[in-house]
Amino acid sequence: MKKFLILASLALISSAVKAQTYLNPQAPIEERVKDALKRMTTEEKIKILHAQSKFTSAGVPRLGIRQLNMDDGPHGVREELEWNTWSPAKWTNDYIVAFPSLTCLAATWNRDLSNAYGNAVSEEFAFRGKDIMLGPGVNIQRTPMNGRAFEYMGEDPYLAGEIVVPYIKAAQKNGIACCLKHFVLNDQEIDRFSVNVNVSERALHEIYLYPFKQAVERAHVWTIMGSYNLWEGDHCCHNDKLINGILKKDWNWDGALVSDWGGTTNTMQAIYGGLDIEMGTYTDGKLRESAFGYDDYYLAKPFRELVNDGKVPMSVLDEKAARVLRTIFRTAMNPNKVIGNQCSEAHYDVCRQIAEEGIVLLKNESSLLPLELSKYKKILVVGENATRSLTQGGGSSELKTLRDISPLEALRTQLSNINSQLSIDYAPGYASGRAMYDHEDKVDPAKQEALKQEALEKAKNADLIIYIGGLNKNHKQDCENGDRESYDLSFGQNELISALAEFDAPMIVTNFGGNPYHMPWLNKVEGLLHCWYLGSESGTALANVLTGKVNPSGKLPVTFAKNYEDYPYVKYGQEAYPGITGVETPKNSAGEMARRQVYYKEDIFVGYRGFEKNKTKPLFPFGFGLSYTTFKYSKPAITKDAEGWKLTIDVTNTGTREGKETVQLYVGQAKVAATRPIKELKNFTKLSLKPGETKTATFRITEKDLMTWDEQTHNWKYEPTKFMAYIGASSNEIKSKISF
Ligand code: BGC
Repeated sequence: MKKFLILASLALISSAVKAQTYLNPQAPIEERVKDALKRMTTEEKIKILHAQSKFTSAGVPRLGIRQLNMDDGPHGVREELEWNTWSPAKWTNDYIVAFPSLTCLAATWNRDLSNAYGNAVSEEFAFRGKDIMLGPGVNIQRTPMNGRAFEYMGEDPYLAGEIVVPYIKAAQKNGIACCLKHFVLNDQEIDRFSVNVNVSERALHEIYLYPFKQAVERAHVWTIMGSYNLWEGDHCCHNDKLINGILKKDWNWDGALVSDWGGTTNTMQAIYGGLDIEMGTYTDGKLRESAFGYDDYYLAKPFRELVNDGKVPMSVLDEKAARVLRTIFRTAMNPNKVIGNQCSEAHYDVCRQIAEEGIVLLKNESSLLPLELSKYKKILVVGENATRSLTQGGGSSELKTLRDISPLEALRTQLSNINSQLSIDYAPGYASGRAMYDHEDKVDPAKQEALKQEALEKAKNADLIIYIGGLNKNHKQDCENGDRESYDLSFGQNELISALAEFDAPMIVTNFGGNPYHMPWLNKVEGLLHCWYLGSESGTALANVLTGKVNPSGKLPVTFAKNYEDYPYVKYGQEAYPGITGVETPKNSAGEMARRQVYYKEDIFVGYRGFEKNKTKPLFPFGFGLSYTTFKYSKPAITKDAEGWKLTIDVTNTGTREGKETVQLYVGQAKVAATRPIKELKNFTKLSLKPGETKTATFRITEKDLMTWDEQTHNWKYEPTKFMAYIGASSNEIKSKISF
């Protein structure tokens, strides 16, 4: 009897649970959403639309619906912060792997590595109990001054789109939502909260929206972060035309739009401008952080009252709540979400491989590299970045690492393993102060001079100088909420490098940074590498490339100009960057007017598109990067079939080392027109070739690839004409062209 009763009650419970479709992991997500929505009160629906702490938004505890745990992003999981403040929680179990910066990932031109990155980093997010990773970012590197360019994927929308798609797919396969940022036109940090971007419809679609569209259509990204800046007078976190119009309607996106932290400014706009989850709002700006009332958020009490008073229909609230529930079921309550792991050797391997493939060899005179270590007795390493942790600073992407191998540490180990007689000395040469957000260190000039003299003194005895400097993540270097103030390297580095280059010893410069910079000393140094930010395995990767254990194969995702004035927007003055203040414009529906207006006057001619149009020779072109081996390109062949064109070209490794070559396909109109870039990247493939080996690069081109944005019809348009395909090793090194 007792057994019968137990069985009967179990059956009852299970039928009740079955009826709870929203809890059934096997049920289709849309049914779970509908069922959950039916059961929720107005209050509960409102609660899931905004933060309940710095990095979480509420679930529905009564119904067993989980909250969303979010964290930065995009290069690893940020350290745990206190529930309610920006202060570290001081946990001891939140040390993670720092992956290379996204600019470095883009420099690999390797879709497989992007997939590996997305997989590994999301496993760390999963293990740390997160549901949403705040990243990756695909804003366009329009200016080398942008303090956050290192978090993005370069200047070309096609490259950024190709690299971001596998990253998102891999992360979301693990049950971690990517929160793609910052939608859109967040291309400078100066007045980032109050700059209104004026851009042509065509440039908006062809350049700035393009990578976001790829992420939506091909990777089905689950969440997107609105940006702080304004477009057409409205903040992008609740910009009706952008979010409801383009993202949700035209692109048919079913995800949740998350505000940037503090990017929400108005209740009615938040309600009707497409925002779904409001994060980081500073209430009325007068309260202390710890006294925040989350119920005072724009999408909290004010929204609830409007719904309760019948002034906003329930359907508007339901639409937002459905998007949030969908996100919860896709992540926090996704039966396939992985457990993940943290700081595994597999993750360090991924980190190292990306770092190695992202390093770009820019100059290698007399084949100085890879280093022939038997030739040297005394190597001098100069530069602060040889020992500085570059995972610190930079703003929200700062990381707390378990392992952070510095270049000096790795060089000391690796070089002396190869030649035990070698002496390796070090001099910092300059100092830049601590990496602190929104904080400028003033470095004492006397101290700076002493450091320089020490380096020069030591250089007298060296038979090889390896300089390791560049930018860092201090405020107004590569750091959030401030742009760089000069195209020059700071802290007297240009003078220091020039002085060191006067010695007889050959010199290799290895600079870190997310942005290009001025190199007045270029002709005086024999070797030059650009390292972006390389993460936990920074030193190992750099040493592997210098010693030749790894053959460099990175290619620039951004044009390096000789002079700052060469960037396409600069000739248009302050209006084009960083914008101007004091322009009277009509107020938006919330009664606000942007403080600053910036006009993207170079239009679609961003990066190499502009350099080519203006016939400006870059110092190092987009797509450029050397190898320790050489490659020969055959003549291309092109055929047409029902789907479009197929272009093939053979590439042979003609050197003595195994190496990888990124074969780049650019397309332009055969008859160059002023309204179209001379050529644009349309495809690429990275081939791995043994000495003497030949492989075929195959590219498909469709009419869709050749479309431009038509401002008359507000749509993409294909205009049949004669096109030219350019196949090259960089945008400036075209090996052959063929018309079609
Ligand atoms: C940044 C975002 C970041 C957020 C949370 C904001 O200031 O712009 O990229 O995800 O803070 O840290």
